Amino acid sequence: MINFLLMKRILSLAAVIAVAAACSRTESLPALTDRVFERAKVQAFDLAARLGDTQTPRTFQADTLVTAPIGWWCSGFFPGTLWYIYEYTGDDTVKDLAWHETRKLEHLAEGKTDHDIGFQLMSSYGNAYRLTGDTACVSILKEGAAKLATRFNPEVGVIRSWDNKKWNYPVIIDNMMNLELLTQYGDRDIALAHARKTQREHFRPDFTTYHLVNYADDGSVLGRQTVQGAADESAWARGQAWALYGYTMMARETGDEAFQAQAEHIARMILPQLPEDGIPYWDFSKPGEERDASAGAVMASAFAELATRTADADLADACRAMAEKQVRTFATPEYLAGPGTNGGFLLKHSVGNKPGNSEVDVPLTYADYYYLEALLRLAR
Ligand code: GLY
Repeated sequence: MINFLLMKRILSLAAVIAVAAACSRTESLPALTDRVFERAKVQAFDLAARLGDTQTPRTFQADTLVTAPIGWWCSGFFPGTLWYIYEYTGDDTVKDLAWHETRKLEHLAEGKTDHDIGFQLMSSYGNAYRLTGDTACVSILKEGAAKLATRFNPEVGVIRSWDNKKWNYPVIIDNMMNLELLTQYGDRDIALAHARKTQREHFRPDFTTYHLVNYADDGSVLGRQTVQGAADESAWARGQAWALYGYTMMARETGDEAFQAQAEHIARMILPQLPEDGIPYWDFSKPGEERDASAGAVMASAFAELATRTADADLADACRAMAEKQVRTFATPEYLAGPGTNGGFLLKHSVGNKPGNSEVDVPLTYADYYYLEALLRLAR
């Protein structure tokens, strides 16, 4: 009897040790990717069920879904997230939902001009066209690119960002992200001019970037400053992320070696500044304050692409390792929302505009979008 009880205890202890050993083994990246896309699907249907026909998700705050009209700069990210889930899962119910959310943006280019039309249309219609080949998307994308081009003033040499009268001719680093709409569906020369001038005027000698450059009508610089960062001379994390992604994308789109070199300089500047788990604080000068998952997700996606493009083998390894670290951190319960929580968003802990006291430590659509894009890039 005693022997039997002892044997039972030994066996149950062995079972506990076996389970603990299995849990402590590192989850493979494919298994992690499966798990995250499964969660993303659950979350996306939850979020879609809360939306009306003319609204787009913005964030989830105080247990309430905050929506925005279609003109909001982020309106393409939820349809884009659905396209990525469809790309990975091949699930036709997701495809139907992706079309439904994409078509909300059908008349976007007929409205007033906005420098962020590249974000909006490339994530929605750009992905729709890439994955379905539906040629009806092309005229919408071309119309959007033509609209974006109207914001380019040849005298100044860049695309104007905001219409706010506080500045003469403001250009934010974020604007680099909109150039892909021009390289693929519009005037490539405008995209090239914008990227070249931004490379000259936005960056400090250490390859950190200012958020905003204000130009005079003759194209000279009136001032350089931040709006969403901690200080004019600090490095706002998402701004650095837009710069890394923007120059990596422009190097791919144009084959221009100067853009490739710029992307590599930015990567070498960012890599040593990231905390142990890879997710940046909202501004590089504010360690210990809020993390910005959106900046981390944009960086992860850019690092994954840069790793495949650089001829510097050490940099390629470092970029790939950082992208993998970031997507793994995001897959932990600290960042990944539990099913049916977080208002249907996938990632927690992003920062929209801390100095403006807006969207601090909340989910944001673009964090989800670039996180899934990073996983897809790593899987390819
Ligand atoms: N483009 C706006 C932002 O990054 O907050």
